[in-house]
Amino acid sequence: EKNLPLKNQKVVITAGGTKERIDPVRYITNDSSGKMGYSLAVAARNLGAEVYLISTSKVLKTPYGVTLVSVETAEQMHQAVNAEFEKAAIVIMAAAVSDYRPSHISNKKIKKNEQEMVLRLVKNTDILATLGNQKKDQFLIGFAAETHNIQEYAKDKLIKKKADMIVANDVSKPNAGFNKDTNEVSIFMMDEEPIELTVNSKQAIAEEILAIALTKMKK
Ligand code: PMT
Repeated sequence: EKNLPLKNQKVVITAGGTKERIDPVRYITNDSSGKMGYSLAVAARNLGAEVYLISTSKVLKTPYGVTLVSVETAEQMHQAVNAEFEKAAIVIMAAAVSDYRPSHISNKKIKKNEQEMVLRLVKNTDILATLGNQKKDQFLIGFAAETHNIQEYAKDKLIKKKADMIVANDVSKPNAGFNKDTNEVSIFMMDEEPIELTVNSKQAIAEEILAIALTKMKK
């Protein structure tokens, strides 16, 4: 159908910042609210897709008709994505996945004692890069949150993570990035000039991202 180009197609979207536990009451996280991922979920649903939203948010309302998978850590997010990956037509990694997690989770609340304490961190698996290596026909969209050298870093991620598209946000801009209702992004794809999307609501940006992905998928 013309108006429902993603009818009967599965779209998997991650949203929000992961939480990496330190002890029963503390964790490491970041400023991602999940709004960009939820906007993408609404946009994909409106195109007819069967949407799986893998989210860390405990506050955003699950969009009507979208299947929510609630996760907390990067490891849980990875497992949840893996479970849906094989049959997905499009996978969008809009989540801000923590690059590191504490090497040890204390099962008791850590008491304050010394003047300094060291928290040892270990690297999390790069979910997007893993998917890039596994993918068959899935169209893989990653994000890049950068404060400088955007073009260079975004192109680097496109190649290294074997994504079909990288959506780069300049998070140093006042109306873009973490926890804002608007975004301003550049879209990078192999053998294409970057496409600049001017500042707009995250909902409008989400619709533009999917429209561009659809034209590229047809090629
Ligand atoms: O949630 P909002 O408040 O609406 O904000 C939206 C956003 C700024 C979080 C979003 O638009 C965004 O840019 N998300 C990606 C943020 C990020 O972590 O970027 P990155 O450059 O560190 O990671 C690059 C890509 O690899 C991302 O698609 C990320 O999901 C993925 N990644 C990163 C690390 C990791 N261990 N596994 C991953 O899959």
